[in-house]
Amino acid sequence: MEGYLRNLSETGRLGKIIGSVLRVGDLIALTGPLGAGKTTLTRGIAAGTQSLAEVKSPSFTLMRVYPGRITLFHLDVYRLRDASEVEGLAVEEYLQEGAVILEWADKVAAWLPEDGLWVELSPLEKIDERWVHLTARGARGAALLTEVAQRWP
Ligand SMILES: Nc1ncnc2c1ncn2[C@@H]1O[C@H](COP(=O)(O)OP(=O)(O)OP(=O)(O)O)[C@@H](O)[C@H]1O
Ligand SMILES: [Mg+2]
Repeated sequence: MEGYLRNLSETGRLGKIIGSVLRVGDLIALTGPLGAGKTTLTRGIAAGTQSLAEVKSPSFTLMRVYPGRITLFHLDVYRLRDASEVEGLAVEEYLQEGAVILEWADKVAAWLPEDGLWVELSPLEKIDERWVHLTARGARGAALLTEVAQRWP
């Protein structure tokens, strides 16, 4: 599934849709360059889980937790340097308790569970526009993508 996000509010709306269908055990793997909108999309996802938490980039803290309809674990692995740091992330443990949203997922793809929804954000020429491409991995990823596609655009 792919399409245009013409402005900030369309990115927010896609995020809210994802958040509304997200379940414990789901992994949302976000990719795209600096400033693509990964944290912005995460803000929408958190809103979609009825979380009242303030979503900020976890670049320095590695992980932030947002309580809501389900618990979200927001991770950003941009600053990770080696495999031992990745192993310390315990993504599988977070997935037992909630859903994981991971920025820069392509950097740690080899360490991630099979299942997930991969979301790639690409900047376009117009400053407010993004192209988004969603790819399902595994059975749960496919189910999630189907549910999102039914509601979007
Ligand atoms: N349609 C859009 N979707 C998402 N962000 C947009 C859009 N239009 C403009 N923006 C702006 O682009 C910036 C995206 O920043 P954001 O922190 O979400 O990117 P990021 O991918 O998380 O970056 P980083 O790699 O540094 O973590 C924000 O300032 C946001 O307001
Ligand atoms: Mg970010």
